[in-house]
Amino acid sequence: MKKKMGGIENLIRKMLKKHSSPLMLIEEDLLEKQFKTFHNALPEVTPYYAIKANPYPEIIKKFVELGAGFDVASANEMNTVLELGANPEKIIFANTIKSNEDIRTAYKKKVKMMTFDNESELYKISKYCPGARVLIRIKVANVGSIVELSLKFGADPEQSISLLKKARSMGLKPVGLSFHVGSQCTNAENYLQALEVASAIFNEAKQSGLFLTILDIGGGFPIKHFEKDSHLTFERMATQIRKKLKRLFEKNVKFIAEPGRFLVGPSGILVTQVIGRTFRNNKNYYYLNDGLYGDFSGIVFDHCKYEFRTLKRGQRFLSTLAGPTCDSFDTISLSEDLPELDVGNVVYVKNIGAYSCASAVPNFNGFKPAKIIMC
Ligand SMILES: Cc1ncc(COP(=O)(O)O)c(C=O)c1O
Repeated sequence: MKKKMGGIENLIRKMLKKHSSPLMLIEEDLLEKQFKTFHNALPEVTPYYAIKANPYPEIIKKFVELGAGFDVASANEMNTVLELGANPEKIIFANTIKSNEDIRTAYKKKVKMMTFDNESELYKISKYCPGARVLIRIKVANVGSIVELSLKFGADPEQSISLLKKARSMGLKPVGLSFHVGSQCTNAENYLQALEVASAIFNEAKQSGLFLTILDIGGGFPIKHFEKDSHLTFERMATQIRKKLKRLFEKNVKFIAEPGRFLVGPSGILVTQVIGRTFRNNKNYYYLNDGLYGDFSGIVFDHCKYEFRTLKRGQRFLSTLAGPTCDSFDTISLSEDLPELDVGNVVYVKNIGAYSCASAVPNFNGFKPAKIIMC
């Protein structure tokens, strides 16, 4: 159950009595809630949690327990999920560019399903993971998505059939197709158009004697980062996707997805405290004990914006938030409306469970990212 604001603030106060900040609180019940919401909205689609969003072991264990599959991007991620109980048959190695060593590890660990988007990758896969089940990742529209993925990844749809045939000629099993509409995708059209393109490729493949049976609709499913984002409904988007899946694909096709942010984002609350304050450039400047090199790294890598909240109430003033390091780049936000804060006061952010601690630098300037606590 989503906690009311008072509930969250009490939780923060309670945690700060036991632990020092910065803290990344992961609300376990919200992991389960997101998983169930995904399942209820897209019951035919098996989610393979993209652990890049947050590889914290307790989170992975929770998704193992809930029956998720996993999307891994490297042998290290693969080993992590396997050690935590994931079934190798429910893992997709969904990085289209893999090193020889990582492909060899996949073979040894019996992770036989992987994506590719170019011919050179097929040579590596056939050599180091003979007989692998491969899915061609195609380039699709990423219009309006916050993180654009189609520039770096994805074969042109027109190349798909020849690449799938090439895979077959090398002894691989061309079993399906994948795409990614870009992360934090609020434009359902990206999914709907991608499904049309995928369906055309499935049909053309059939005519060429290639029987594709797996469609991987990727990640990208959006979450609310701000309270005012209430128009953003995953459910509405999912209804449209579901209709298309039913209409465009044959009954024998298995659907999977690679949600990262959607499953883990809403569960995270980052709790920081003010460690210094000044008045400069006509504004209050508050220096927090976490910053861009730590759990706010999503501002840089994920192009994410956050809603900053305080436990203190009162008149609000234009303020700047900065991180604790000696680097001026470590400025979190130049313009936030915040009450007057003192050293020790709390600044917290909800819905920050994805692409935050995952991309934090371990020890820049000697500052450690937030301690992660499941609660
Ligand atoms: C191949 C792949 N799958 C899944 C994801 C997860 O995407 P999201 O967190 O938007 O669901 C990503 C994110 O970059 C990705 O590159």
